[in-house]
Amino acid sequence: MNLERERQLIGRMGERLTVEQDLKDFYAHGEIVSRLAVLTAKELGEDETFCREIAVAGMLHDIGKLELADVIYGNSDNIMAVERSKYVRMHPTLGIDVLRKEGAYSEEVISFIANHHENFDGTGYPNHLEGDEIPYGARILRVCDVFAALVSNRAYRSAFGVDTAVEMMIDDVKDYDMHIFLAFLKVVYSKDFTAVREMIDRANAR
Ligand SMILES: [Fe+2]
Repeated sequence: MNLERERQLIGRMGERLTVEQDLKDFYAHGEIVSRLAVLTAKELGEDETFCREIAVAGMLHDIGKLELADVIYGNSDNIMAVERSKYVRMHPTLGIDVLRKEGAYSEEVISFIANHHENFDGTGYPNHLEGDEIPYGARILRVCDVFAALVSNRAYRSAFGVDTAVEMMIDDVKDYDMHIFLAFLKVVYSKDFTAVREMIDRANAR
């Protein structure tokens, strides 16, 4: 899947990041979510058009965070954690503006990105949507995003292994669309996952 335009958009907006590693991590997370989302969509029987849309949305799902680069990444020691988390919660909505301005993205892709932090039981953000109210692609992104975050190194913790990440997600299964979650599990334990595991290992080795 060619995501060159999306990489360029991240590159342009990523100039606001002062730490090079943050930009590398941003690319890597987007690529892992994108790949997992496409494999999950295929497992669910979705067509080429949908797979293309979910690939793009996966790559750009956190683009709104780059609008908040100063607050989210460094230069903000004087910002309280609670305030920072309030800003972080704005990133799905900010993503809408970025993509509308680009003019190259369908309303479908935009709706997936705008809702990628909504939980199936209504506990997510920004709109507390529930169940089928959440766009289908956003429900796919939710599962792939949480998994990708758990299996990645973070500044404050080491990456969890795949099995541990899956167990942790089962504990919070109310957050996910069960049909999608089961398809996702099939992907994780399929041979297609080998390439994703390599991407994860490469990102964690840096
Ligand atoms: Fe996000």
